[in-house]
Amino acid sequence: MSKILKVVGASWLQTKISSYVLGILGVLAILALFVGQIERIQEDGNYAATVFYSEKTGYRIEYWGQSNELAEISKGVARAYFRMDIDTTGWSLLEVETDGSYPDEIQAYAAGIVEGALTWYLIHTHLENTIRAKCENTPLEKQCNKLKDALDKSVDTWKSYAAERSSSDPYWHHVSLHYTQINGINTGWRYGVERSMSEYDTDISDLYWLNSVAEVTELQHKLNISLDDSIDLLPDVSSAFLRIVNDTAEDGTPTKNLYLAHNAAGRYTTMTRILKRYKLNYHLTSKDTNLVPGTFVDFSGYPGSITSQDEFYIIKGKNHEMAAAGTALRNFNNEIWKEVNITEQVPIGPRITAANHLASNVSSWGHILANSNSGTGSKQWLIVDYTKFNSLHEYKPRDHPTGHERNEIVTERSVENNVQHTVYHMNNGHAKGLVELIEQVPGVTHAADISDTFLEQGYWATYGLPFFKNIAEKTHVGKMEALHGNMFSETESPRAVIFKRGFKNATSLESIIKLMRQNNMTALYRTSNETNEAKACENDLECVVAENGYWAVVGVRGDIVNKHKQPYGVIDTKIICGTLNKPNLEFVAISGPPHTETQTNSTKLLINKGNLAPIYTKEFDNKPNINTIEIRDLVKHQQEEAEQETLELLNRDVVKPFEWSESQFANDTHRGLPDKWDFGPFRPNWSW
Ligand SMILES: *[C@@H]1O[C@H](CO)[C@@H](O)[C@H](O)[C@H]1NC(C)=O
Ligand SMILES: *[C@@H]1O[C@H](CO)[C@@H](O)[C@H](O)[C@H]1NC(C)=O
Ligand SMILES: *[C@@H]1O[C@H](CO)[C@@H](O)[C@H](O)[C@H]1NC(C)=O
Ligand SMILES: *[C@@H]1O[C@H](CO)[C@@H](O)[C@H](O)[C@H]1NC(C)=O
Ligand SMILES: *[C@@H]1O[C@H](CO)[C@@H](O)[C@H](O)[C@H]1NC(C)=O
Ligand SMILES: *[C@@H]1O[C@H](CO)[C@@H](O)[C@H](O)[C@H]1NC(C)=O
Ligand SMILES: *[C@@H]1O[C@H](CO)[C@@H](O)[C@H](O)[C@H]1NC(C)=O
Ligand SMILES: *[C@@H]1O[C@H](CO)[C@@H](O)[C@H](O)[C@H]1NC(C)=O
Ligand SMILES: *[C@@H]1O[C@H](CO)[C@@H](O)[C@H](O)[C@H]1NC(C)=O
Repeated sequence: MSKILKVVGASWLQTKISSYVLGILGVLAILALFVGQIERIQEDGNYAATVFYSEKTGYRIEYWGQSNELAEISKGVARAYFRMDIDTTGWSLLEVETDGSYPDEIQAYAAGIVEGALTWYLIHTHLENTIRAKCENTPLEKQCNKLKDALDKSVDTWKSYAAERSSSDPYWHHVSLHYTQINGINTGWRYGVERSMSEYDTDISDLYWLNSVAEVTELQHKLNISLDDSIDLLPDVSSAFLRIVNDTAEDGTPTKNLYLAHNAAGRYTTMTRILKRYKLNYHLTSKDTNLVPGTFVDFSGYPGSITSQDEFYIIKGKNHEMAAAGTALRNFNNEIWKEVNITEQVPIGPRITAANHLASNVSSWGHILANSNSGTGSKQWLIVDYTKFNSLHEYKPRDHPTGHERNEIVTERSVENNVQHTVYHMNNGHAKGLVELIEQVPGVTHAADISDTFLEQGYWATYGLPFFKNIAEKTHVGKMEALHGNMFSETESPRAVIFKRGFKNATSLESIIKLMRQNNMTALYRTSNETNEAKACENDLECVVAENGYWAVVGVRGDIVNKHKQPYGVIDTKIICGTLNKPNLEFVAISGPPHTETQTNSTKLLINKGNLAPIYTKEFDNKPNINTIEIRDLVKHQQEEAEQETLELLNRDVVKPFEWSESQFANDTHRGLPDKWDFGPFRPNWSW
C-alpha cells in the first residue's frame, strides 16, 4: 500500500496568518456592524481537513479555508474539524469522521493522519511539557529509554499478532485498528511538522508513550525504574460519582436524571486538553459488513492519544448509548507485579478501544476489558447504559426471594491461567444492565452488576479504593489501612464520607459540580505551620501521607497544600446527564484545577449598617467630651476594621484559580498552556 501525501491548499502557517488577518477583518466587521449596520457573514472551519484515498495514489490530505460550511466539507475517507480554544474555554475540540464504505484499516489510518496533521503543534508542546521535560538531558533519560523500548516491543508484538487475526475475530480486529490509527497519527504529525518547515523532532516511541500514559505507573515497577513522584504511589485522587435524582420536566411532569461525574487527576503540565469525538464507521471484523455497536466515541483527552487516559468516555451507536468512567487503583503488593507483562498480554489502550467499539451492553464491556489483562492501567470502572435508563430507573426488590440470595461468584472466562473474569451477583439482584462496576488489577478482573444497589442507594462513588474484598486483599490495601489509617479505607476514607454525606444535596448539575470540586481546606488551615512542616518533610512518602489536602477533599489542589506542594491534583471535571425519555445526553466539562467563584465586591455586601448603633452606645456613652466629628471617624474606623475581618473570614475559604505566573511552579515547562485557569462549565458544540 503506497502512502503518498500530497500537499494541497495553503500551508498551516499561511492558514494561521490568514486567520489573524481574518480575525482583524472580523473586528473591523463588528465595528462596521455598530457603525453601518453591516451584517458579518459567519465564517468557520479554519482547521478543517479531509484525507482522500485511492489505490493508485494512496493517501492525500486537503486543508479547508475559513469560508467553508462545515457540513459541506468533503468527506473523503476521513474528515476532521479542529478548534484550538484552550485559551478561552480550557479545551481544544477535535472531531473526526470516517466513511464506512472504506475498509476499516483505511478508515483507521486516515483518521490518524487527519488528527496528526491538524493537531501536530499541540502534540509537540504536550511532549515538551511532559515526556521531554522529564526525560531529555535529565538523570532519568536512561530509565525513560528503557520504558520506550518496552512500549516499542509491545506494539511490535501486538500489531502483527492482531493483524493476522483481524479477518475473523472482532477483538483482534479492533486491537489492530487501534495501532493502525496511532501509525496514522504519526504520519500526519510528521507531515504537519514538515509542512510548517519547523525543526521539531518526531518520534513514534513518544506517540506510543502518549497512548500509554495510564499504564506507566505499573510498567515502572515491572521494569524496575522510577519516573513518578511519590504521590503516584498512594491512592489516586481522581473520583467518579453516579447519581439518580427526581426532577420536574419543563411541562411540570415528574421525571428523573441520571448523572455521571468524573474528576481526572494529573500534573498541571499535562493540561493541554482536547475534547475529542471519533465517529468511526468500523465493522465487526475486516470481512464483516455489520457496523460495530459503538461508532461514536466522545472523550476528554490529550494530544496524540486515541484513548482518554483520564479515563472518561461517552459511547454511542444505533440504539446504543453508554458512558464509562475509570479511576486508578494502586497496588501495594510486590508479589503481583510478576503478573504484569505487556508483550504476553494486551495493554490497556487497545482493550479499551475494543470494548468501546464492540460492547453492546455493560457486561460485555467488562468481558472485553478482561480479555488478556496486561495488569497495566489498573482501574475501577463505572459503566452506565443510558439506553436502559428509560425502562430501569426504579428500585424494585424481588417479590419472591429464592434460595440463592447470597453472593455468588461465577468464573466466566479464563483467558490466561491467572486471569479471571468474575461476575459477582450482589444481594438478590439479577444482572439488570444499567450499571456495572469493574475492578481490574494485575492478574484479576472483578465485575458486578450493581444496578439494584445503585437504585436503592441513589448514588455510587469510586475514589481509588477497591470495593471488592478480593481486589483489596490482592493489592494489600487492607494492610495499608492498618499502617496509615483511614485514607485507605473504602468506607471511612474522607472522600467516602464526603460522598456518603454529600450525595443527598447533589441533585442538580450545579450542586454536583460543587461536590466534585469542593476544596474546603481553609486558607488558615493551608498556610499554618508551613515553614515548620516543610522542613520536617524529609521523607517524601510520609510527608504526602500526612498531608490532609490530598486526602480530605474531592477537588484536590496539590499546589496549595501544606506539605509536598506539587503542580498536581484534580485537573478537570466532566458531567453527563441523561433524562428519562429524552433523546440526547447533556455534557459539560470544566478544565483546570478547582477554585471557588471569584468574589466580586463582597465588601459592599457585607457592611452591616446595624452595627453602627451598638458601637455608638457601647463605646461612647462614658466619653462625654468626644465631639461628633471624632465619633464619626471612630465609627468609620471601627466599621472598616470589622469589614476587613469579615472579608478575611470569607476569603479564608476562597480558593483562587491556579495561575502559572503567580505560582512557585512558574519555571516548570508549560508551553502553550493558559496562564490563569479560571474556566467555567463548557458545553462542546459538535459540527457532525
Ligand atoms: C532495581 O534497580 C536498583 C537500582 O536502580 C538495583 O539496585 C536493584 O538491584 C534492581 N532490582 C532488580 C530486581 O533488578
Ligand atoms: C422519586 O420519585 C419516585 C416516584 O417516581 C418516588 O417513589 C421516590 O420516593 C422519589 N425519591 C425521592 C428521593 O424523592
Ligand atoms: C513477558 O513474558 C515473556 C515470556 O514469558 C518474557 O520473555 C518477558 O521478559 C516478559 N516481559 C516482561 C516485561 O516481564
Ligand atoms: C451483552 O452482549 C453480549 C454480546 O454482545 C451478549 O452475548 C449478551 O447476551 C448481552 N447481555 C445482556 C445481559 O444483554
Ligand atoms: C444540604 O442542604 C441543606 C439545605 O441547604 C443544608 O442545611 C445541609 O447542611 C446540607 N447538607 C450537607 C451535608 O451539606
Ligand atoms: C470539608 O468538608 C467535609 C465534608 O463536609 C468535612 O468532613 C471536612 O472536615 C471539611 N474539612 C475542613 C478542613 O473543613
Ligand atoms: C504548628 O504545629 C505545632 C505542632 O503540630 C503546634 O503545636 C503549633 O501550635 C503550630 N503552630 C501554628 C502557628 O499553627
Ligand atoms: C466593584 O466596586 C468598585 C468600587 O465601588 C467599582 O468601581 C467596580 O465597578 C465594582 N466591580 C464590580 C464587578 O461590580
Ligand atoms: C525561575 O527562574 C528564575 C531564573 O532562574 C528565578 O529567578 C526565579 O526565582 C524562578 N522562579 C521560581 C518560582 O522558582
